[in-house]
Amino acid sequence: MDRLIITDVSPRDGLQNQPKAVSAQDKLRLIDCLVSAGVRSVEATSFVSPKAVPQMADASEVLSALLVRQPELRSSVLVPNLKGLERAHAAGAREIAVVLAATETMNQKNINMSLQQAAEVSEQTVLAARGHGMKTRAYIAVAFDCPFEGATALERVMALSQRMLDAGADELVIADTIGSASPGMVRDRVRALLEQVPSDKLALHFHDTRGMGAANAWAAVEQGVRRFDASTGGIGGCPFAPGAAGNVATEDLVLMAERSGLATGIDLMALLNAVDLAEALLGRPLGGRSAPWLRRQRDKAREPAMPS
Ligand code: COA
Ligand code: ZN
Repeated sequence: MDRLIITDVSPRDGLQNQPKAVSAQDKLRLIDCLVSAGVRSVEATSFVSPKAVPQMADASEVLSALLVRQPELRSSVLVPNLKGLERAHAAGAREIAVVLAATETMNQKNINMSLQQAAEVSEQTVLAARGHGMKTRAYIAVAFDCPFEGATALERVMALSQRMLDAGADELVIADTIGSASPGMVRDRVRALLEQVPSDKLALHFHDTRGMGAANAWAAVEQGVRRFDASTGGIGGCPFAPGAAGNVATEDLVLMAERSGLATGIDLMALLNAVDLAEALLGRPLGGRSAPWLRRQRDKAREPAMPS
């Protein structure tokens, strides 16, 4: 059966912007719960400045414990620079993701670098990670629109993607950081990208700000993309991109896939347990667009059978 490969980014993108602190132990519990539901790939944390993102200050603790308790799990970690890479390496990371935004201002706001610097640092970081024998993902952030500069030119996205592939990145992650894309835009950009990137090296990362996350993912599926980032409960958002809401929810992509004849290996009812746990940890109601319906199905399944 044709399948979608979902990387659940809730432990990183999902938690990096939350007002309520979540302990390292609770982050690990959330990841355990995802694994129990069948998730085989996560973005576990980020090795960024704890001053910039205090929520990820426990990156080393989370990753080193995770590698022991979930040795089979594909656990990538975000690193913005060589310092982050070395911290990740010391904690045992086997896969990292660099983050290169497609506009000048977004790089300045996110990682305090010019576009030129960010591209160079991302290249150096990918090369150094490969030297450590790590797998690498390269995010191209704000690949549709930038909250500061407006529409992002496709040519820019193509050129930066090529640069990261030339540096040896194993996977490109085209990110709709503020969730402004539409299915037609996705179709056109993905078509153009697939002329230079093999489909098994291309992942898409959507945010659901305007309610189009799943529709956008489907537009990419129709062009041949099978790799997606998503976040359980739809939590997430970049603290440095104003207006960005949560990621497209993992449960929405899994339901979309299941109902379209694509396997994911993820069990929806078990995934709801992870949504419930995230709710308990963050102290507020969560869930993607499908969550209310999924919960009703769960409630029905739990109702005692009528006596005959
Ligand atoms: N991890 C931990 N600390 C780091 C670090 C990293 N990857 N990179 C730099 N630092 C520390 C430096 O050691 C220095 O510490 P000091 O003040 O105690 O001496 C301090 O941070 C400043 O270093 P500098 O190189 O000048 O960084 P900066 O202030 O220009 O910030 C980044 C650059 C990239 C470190 C910071 O902007 C960042 O972490 N951004 C991440 C944003 C993010 O996570 N966005 C969401 C995901 S896309
Ligand atoms: Zn994101």
